[in-house]
Amino acid sequence: MKTLYSTLGLLLSSLLVLPALGRTFRGQDVSWAYLTNSTFLFDFDKMQDLVVFGDSYSDVHTNVKNMKYDSEIYGGKNWALKLIDIPDHKVWLWDFAHKGAVVDLQLVPRDEENTSFVTQYNSFVENLYEKNSIRGWSSRTTLFSIWFGTNDIIYMSRSPESSSNGTIDKIIDSKFQTMENLYQHGARHFLLIYVPTIEKAPLNRGNSLYFTYDDTTYYNTQVNNRAKEFSTTHPDCNVLVYDSFMEFNYIMDNKNAFGINNIVDSCVESGADDCGKDETHFWHNDLHPSHVVQEALGQDIYEFLDSKKVVRAVPSDVEGNAESGAFTFNLKSLFLWNAIFLLSLLFI
Ligand SMILES: *[C@@H]1O[C@H](CO)[C@@H](O)[C@H](O)[C@H]1NC(C)=O
Ligand SMILES: *[C@@H]1O[C@H](CO)[C@@H](O)[C@H](O)[C@H]1NC(C)=O
Ligand SMILES: *[C@@H]1O[C@H](CO)[C@@H](O)[C@H](O)[C@H]1NC(C)=O
Repeated sequence: MKTLYSTLGLLLSSLLVLPALGRTFRGQDVSWAYLTNSTFLFDFDKMQDLVVFGDSYSDVHTNVKNMKYDSEIYGGKNWALKLIDIPDHKVWLWDFAHKGAVVDLQLVPRDEENTSFVTQYNSFVENLYEKNSIRGWSSRTTLFSIWFGTNDIIYMSRSPESSSNGTIDKIIDSKFQTMENLYQHGARHFLLIYVPTIEKAPLNRGNSLYFTYDDTTYYNTQVNNRAKEFSTTHPDCNVLVYDSFMEFNYIMDNKNAFGINNIVDSCVESGADDCGKDETHFWHNDLHPSHVVQEALGQDIYEFLDSKKVVRAVPSDVEGNAESGAFTFNLKSLFLWNAIFLLSLLFI
């Protein structure tokens, strides 16, 4: 009996301790999905077009005049190239991402880059939406990915006496306004990606990016809050929120499993001969992850999207099947499996 009690104690404490081990979760385990069960059921297997807006993390050097792009970035695939590679049918990539991009140049001006979610959206309207001759994409089978915030957080102006929260709120407002414009142009499936752990980048040597951690946390929380709200006000669309912040930490914490042995220095700065082919550094250069990380990210995003497939609930099934509700959070199932695993120890 004593053993039973102590085992139960172990079980309970491990359930309580689990959240503290958060950093060892994969991005997909803590990501969010606000799904509709209306006309536009989410099924990543059925997607035929992936439209990407973002910064250098998503850039494939697309020429918007003919939409041709590079199939290798830093010696491998970035997450978007990896993602379209996985399904066993052709997925077209329309990648408007551009290095240095912010959400809105009115809020975070960047003379040298001059590109934002707003300008990329305009380019989408001009080059893909209005020229249906390139390809007639459809709302039902097109996923729109939106990954911004890193440059906004690094380059926005800050004043010592006021918090950055207010500026971030304006950036998020603009982001969701452009998302609304996409919705008005027929977008129904959205993938929003968090700002990752940029404070761990080699660029932060000397703590020059010390301010990014709190701002990133606030930004990501607001992205998730607004995504949930957007799904409520737009009940016929799917909004998936992917936690790249957690995935970066996961890859760092489990670097050996990815064949990485250096998570601190950038390959380029280390003076290694061929950083294009390098597979051992987490960071390619001072702010950009290597293709090993990008491909792991693409794989994890794929598994996340794949796990969110919605099968229309048959009426009798609706009540008993909470998982088909408005949103799901994968952590729940982790707790369940943890509990089942520990319970099974009781009987060994
Ligand atoms: C930035 O782009 C806009 C339109 O895309 C253009 O009108 C403007 O002149 C550009 N500014 C700079 C500084 O290149
Ligand atoms: C910014 O928001 C975060 C999270 O809500 C909060 O903890 C922090 O106090 C805010 N900062 C200021 C200066 O209001
Ligand atoms: C799914 O949609 C039907 C109507 O089409 C609705 O009655 C049902 O409650 C919805 N189920 C869930 C879990 O949202």
